[in-house]
Amino acid sequence: MSEQVLKKEMGLAPGEARYPGEPSTQDIIARDRVPAPDWVRSESYEFLGDEDVSIDRYIDPAFAAVEFDKLWTRTWQFACREEHIPEVGDYYVYDIGRRSFIIARVAQDEVRAYYNACLHRGTMLRAPGTDGCAQEFKCSFHGWSWNLDGSLKQALCDWDFPHVKAEEYSLPRARVELLAGFVFINMDHDAPSLADYLGPEFMAQISQWGLEDRYTYCHVSKTLPANWKLSMAAFMEAYHVLDTHPQVAVSNADANSQYDVYGEHVDRFISTLGVLSPHLKGKYTEQDVFNQFTLGDSSVAGDAPRQLKEGETARQCMADMIRQAFETQSNTDLSKVSDSELLDCFSYTLFPNTFLFPGISLPMVYRFRPAPGDHRKTIYEVFFLRPVPKDGSRPDPAEPVYLRDDQSFTEAQGMDPGFGAILDQDTENLILQQAGLEASAKPGITLGNYQEIRVRHFERAVDKYVSG
Ligand code: FES
Ligand SMILES: [Fe+2]
Repeated sequence: MSEQVLKKEMGLAPGEARYPGEPSTQDIIARDRVPAPDWVRSESYEFLGDEDVSIDRYIDPAFAAVEFDKLWTRTWQFACREEHIPEVGDYYVYDIGRRSFIIARVAQDEVRAYYNACLHRGTMLRAPGTDGCAQEFKCSFHGWSWNLDGSLKQALCDWDFPHVKAEEYSLPRARVELLAGFVFINMDHDAPSLADYLGPEFMAQISQWGLEDRYTYCHVSKTLPANWKLSMAAFMEAYHVLDTHPQVAVSNADANSQYDVYGEHVDRFISTLGVLSPHLKGKYTEQDVFNQFTLGDSSVAGDAPRQLKEGETARQCMADMIRQAFETQSNTDLSKVSDSELLDCFSYTLFPNTFLFPGISLPMVYRFRPAPGDHRKTIYEVFFLRPVPKDGSRPDPAEPVYLRDDQSFTEAQGMDPGFGAILDQDTENLILQQAGLEASAKPGITLGNYQEIRVRHFERAVDKYVSG
């Protein structure tokens, strides 16, 4: 029976249908040996309509201009990690569109975000994309300088500027809030607090992952050949796994992944691993699933995969192996950490431009920024996180590796080449998708009610900002 027919017969409301006859993510997790906490074993799907989403947002430079004025200026954005600025005086330049900010630690417990522009004739005080340590921010043009706390330190030849009152010439600031080791900024002084913006469900969950005790051990950046929203949407669903990444479908329950929305700015995705894709049912054995996953993951690959015993599942063996490997590596007791948290792909989108993947086996963060002046290009970064050492030291974050457009992600030093190959596959799609939308006679894209809910949820927030 086709899915459509089944839906009709069962009288399901839009968005209620799931891959017929297959266990849900929650069913899979419920069978695990080490049980998952309630916040994993919960669902928060919401049907948000099924109209097409207009494509002008991806292809019209005027839309990008409106986004800069209305969206980027009013949303909370991940600017850097706290380990980028551990000491008083450390700063990190965060650039977004034509805006640029100096994110500076001005006291042990205070971080500020200064607009990166001299108040004399506008020169940037620090070059884009740079970082360092400073006791003052001095302009290279005529030497005006500001103290770390943003107050005007000196205007050269101040006798010529009787109209410049020092108290009116402090560096303007954006708002800053810290969460789980991340520094967030917002240009809108009337915006809700970060906690209100992200909502109570996410705030309760983020505290469980311990991301404040991680540091960036690998940081890779590359320009993607598509609009920033297309680039983000390429990572919001597992619907594309079968055709785009067939090599991982053998050990990924792609079509029964779970999608949750939390308020306006956050959504969640759980995709279980160590489970065969429903699309491939009957084509592979449990042993195949185990072999694929073991050999495909360099963090656990070793000798030839062992043979599963009667009644053993690939998923359980994988969870046990990962638990053991990480316990040895980090000298930590993980016996109470659920199989799901250890093994599965969890991802959260924090609107507008950040993905958190806080899971234990591949903890990472994606950041997407529109390339200034080109609505068809996106500055993509991935930060791989690792637990800080047990001795209490805080390692320096990795310097970014910048890939050229023609380079493969597999060339990025420090990144698993298998993972790099997945990103290359996504990049190939993006080239064709951007071009296809420009070539298309159809004015909108069509979305699945369930598997593509994150795309709709995200574009709904875009609409809210650009029209507001
Ligand atoms: S532009 Fe900065 S001191 Fe003149
Ligand atoms: Fe992908």
